[in-house]
Amino acid sequence: MAANGDGFSNASMENLTCHVEKRPISTIVFIVAMQKEAQPLIERLRLVKDVNSPFPKEVAWILFKGMYKDLNINIVCPGKDSALGVDSVCTVPASLVTYASIQALQPDLIINAGTAGGFKAKGASICDVYIVSSSAFHDRRIPVPVLDLYGVGMRKAFPTPNLIKELNLKVGRLSTGDSMDMSPHDKESITANDATVKDMEGAAVAYVADIFKVPTILIKGVTDIVDGNRPTSEEFLENLAAVTAQLDESITKVIDFISGKCLSDL
Ligand code: ADE
Repeated sequence: MAANGDGFSNASMENLTCHVEKRPISTIVFIVAMQKEAQPLIERLRLVKDVNSPFPKEVAWILFKGMYKDLNINIVCPGKDSALGVDSVCTVPASLVTYASIQALQPDLIINAGTAGGFKAKGASICDVYIVSSSAFHDRRIPVPVLDLYGVGMRKAFPTPNLIKELNLKVGRLSTGDSMDMSPHDKESITANDATVKDMEGAAVAYVADIFKVPTILIKGVTDIVDGNRPTSEEFLENLAAVTAQLDESITKVIDFISGKCLSDL
């Protein structure tokens, strides 16, 4: 695929300018990797687990759904790994659930919400909630012309200038990889991606949504400071509950803002 000089694919640039319809947003799909991250929102919006899930019987994917104001809200979690019983985090499950959710639910908007590591050198602090301006991968290094750009896969998120202004949200670039730690190679790529936050799903969700031209917003709460002096996993587990509560508050404000609006109003 041809790329622009700034590394964004032409397809993703088109995504920003086309398909912005003048009709109120009706169906939103949240892709959330860990059910714990989604639980406060599931309870606040009184969403119910879909017992007739549209997904194949073999998968552990969970759909919580319900109406909130005029919005048809769906939260899709990839569920537990069948062998180990832990949440199916990372890019492969995120891609699969995003694909299946688009097919089954035909959303007007996808929101990938979850936790992330933040870089204090870029202004991030614990419990900050970021709206992502662009997403890219940091562990797909392919030193071959053009394939290098494919590997990085930088995509702009759907622009939401009014939402950002009204809710006074922080904005930053996201870098995605399949590891929670950060190798020296990852660090180099994350710096090249100019990322403020680092996660394990966002760019994969954005990749799939871009194929189907579904506008996508990414909202990330900071559980750990990657360039700080605490072990990442310890800081992540310590802050998970507080950040999840903060995310719940921010996402509720985002949904309240979206209600009754068209994509072009965001
Ligand atoms: N999710 C929360 N913290 C993270 C980190 N440091 N890296 C990747 N994903 C995360």
